[in-house]
This record gives sequence, C-alpha cells and structure tokens, in this order.
Amino acid sequence: MNRLDCQIISLTRAPPTIPVLARWFVEEWASYYGPDGPGDAESDLRACRDDGVLPYSVVALDAERRVLGTASLKAESIGSDRFPGPWLAALLVSPRHRRHGVGSQLVAAIETAAWRFGHAELYVSTDRENLFARSRGWTRVGVTQSRRGRIVVLRLTRPAETL
Ligand SMILES: CC(C)(COP(=O)(O)OP(=O)(O)OC[C@H]1O[C@@H](n2cnc3c(N)ncnc32)[C@H](O)[C@@H]1OP(=O)(O)O)[C@@H](O)C(=O)NCCC(=O)NCCS
Repeated sequence: MNRLDCQIISLTRAPPTIPVLARWFVEEWASYYGPDGPGDAESDLRACRDDGVLPYSVVALDAERRVLGTASLKAESIGSDRFPGPWLAALLVSPRHRRHGVGSQLVAAIETAAWRFGHAELYVSTDRENLFARSRGWTRVGVTQSRRGRIVVLRLTRPAETL
C-alpha cells in the first residue's frame, strides 16, 4: 500500500474538524465517549491549546483539507499513576485511511511537539506496540490493565540532537 502524504497541523488551526473527530471518538471508544460513558469527546477536543499548556492535538489533513486522523499530547493517560508523562493519546485514523502511514506521521508529529514544549520524555499506553517499536527508540517500561485489556506502557526519551 502507498504511503498517504498528508499535512499535519495543530487542531487549533482546524476547528471545523472537531465535530467529525468527535463522532469518530464515539464510534471507536464507545465505552468512554458513548452515551453511557464518562467522556465528552467534543469538549475534550475543544480543550486543546497551542501554547505549550496541555492538552495539545494535531490533525492529519489530505490535499482537500479533509481530516484523516488525529493524535494528542496530554498530561494524563492510562498509567499516569506510575509514570509522570506527558502522554501520546487519542491516536485515531479514520478506518478508510488506515495502513497508509498516517498513524506513524501523527506519532512523529506528537514526538516533535513534546520536545518543542520542553519535555524530556514521552509516554504512551497502547495495545499497538508494533506501531511504536518501529520508530526511533520507544521502549517498554510497564504493563497495565484497562477496560481494553492488556496495555503496555512505552517511553521515548528526547533525542540528543533536539536539545
Ligand atoms: C492505530 C492506528 C492509529 C494506526 O493508524 P494507521 O494510519 O493505520 O498507522 P500506519 O499506517 O502508520 O501503521 C499501521 C500499520 O500499517 C503498516 N503500514 C503503514 N504504511 C504502510 C505501507 N505503505 N504499506 C504497508 N503497510 C504499511 C504499518 O507497518 C503498521 O503495521 P502494524 O499493524 O504491524 O503496526 C489506527 O489503526 C487506529 O486509529 N486504530 C483505532 C484506534 C486505536 O487503536 N488507537 C490507539 C493506538 S495507541
């Protein structure tokens, strides 16, 4: 499959994508963002900022500025009780556009943002260890349980060349 070229920008620069992303969040994480869950997808997305205070989010857009996916940098996630964060979280690519490298580009964008905001480490809790194992230096630091089952916690340390 071909790598899909996309533009990745701050969510604050693409507010019209929020209702679409909120609908995808409800579909993907129904137990949390669905009608019976505790989360409010649209208000979580609207809380995202651009000034180094978390949460921060990016969106991937195609050439027609249609949204393909999103990812966030958050202060807390599954595993925050054991690790300080910040966390790569809310990583989601629309089902039609998966397996074309969009998710990997979103991960790279959140890594860059974390270093730009001055963090020395970045964590993710995931059941998709492969997606991160491929990239620069994520290492497993823990295993935890969530309503999604077994989740591994991975850590990436800021590379020296970004200092
Ligand atoms: C997880 C998720 C974000 C990945 O997004 P994606 O755009 O499909 O990610 P990528 O295309 O970069 O990589 C996915 C796979 O496609 C493969 N791939 C990427 N580009 C490819 C290409 N050009 N040709 C063949 N395979 C390719 C990757 O190697 C990767 O393989 P893996 O499944 O063994 O890890 C997406 O599946 C999703 O939204 N899932 C539901 C939400 C979720 O689970 N989020 C939590 C993740 S922590």
